[in-house]
Amino acid sequence: MQLLDGKVVSQHIKEEIKKQVEQLTWAGKRPPHLVAILVGENPASKAYVGSKVKTCAELGFESTLISYDAAVTESELLLKIKEFNANPSVDGILVQLPLPKHISEDKVIETIDPGKDVDGFHPVNLGKMMLSLPTFVPATPYGIMLMLQHYGIKTAGMNCVVIGRSNIVGTPMSLLLSRNTEPGNCTVTMCHSKTKDMKALCKEADIIVAAIGKPRFVTEDMVKEGAIIIDVGINRVESTETKSGFRLVGDVDYENVAPKCSYITPVPGGVGLMTICALMKNTLLAHANHTQS
Ligand code: GUN
Repeated sequence: MQLLDGKVVSQHIKEEIKKQVEQLTWAGKRPPHLVAILVGENPASKAYVGSKVKTCAELGFESTLISYDAAVTESELLLKIKEFNANPSVDGILVQLPLPKHISEDKVIETIDPGKDVDGFHPVNLGKMMLSLPTFVPATPYGIMLMLQHYGIKTAGMNCVVIGRSNIVGTPMSLLLSRNTEPGNCTVTMCHSKTKDMKALCKEADIIVAAIGKPRFVTEDMVKEGAIIIDVGINRVESTETKSGFRLVGDVDYENVAPKCSYITPVPGGVGLMTICALMKNTLLAHANHTQS
């Protein structure tokens, strides 16, 4: 079993980005600028946004963090987004999801200028992705593709099961893996809550991407010998072994599944780090589009 090590791959990609930012600065250009908007007190969202802002600093990007109380109105939030849309010094805008129930996520996403939608969630960008046109690819599936590419894993012809059909991960992941690219060219099955006999489908899979948000959902009896396992889950579970009383586990029962795999991503230290890298690559792309002369 070989670890698909998010620390190693993300460090490598971050070094490349850092060099590109240095070159931009030498050429007299401003650095890329990401705006992150956080609404409410969701501890996971706070941690994710914190990591994104910290990574910006590490890479020489400018970042602006706007934090709103959970009671912020939808119109106030939309107004702020429009302000950043119109600000030429801003390259990328992300609004961390999920949002409180009184705010429409669809409206928020549709208000972001597609040219600054570095999450790749806007319908225009998702449409372009479906057509394989150049665009911002959603960060988690994009990060997974970068990881497979880094390890030189030849996926053509493989059977792939994606568990979960979210707009953010499962659906774009299925599209990317089925495209005529390398990595890609997989035969993809997308599983969800109504899927019949998921175990049988998983047992046939050369690659399983678990993005269902249920701790240790994928168990050893669902996995074929030699399969590649990509674990997108980040679940907080109670633990007697940590000071905090909690630990992070993925959607895969790592301890029992890992010995059967050819490759597996750990949690933490796997896909999560790649997601941030992919977001940074998208922000760099947005900057290039905005500063082209
Ligand atoms: N919530 C979970 N994942 C993401 C992500 O990639 N981007 C944003 N904006 N919110 C998220």
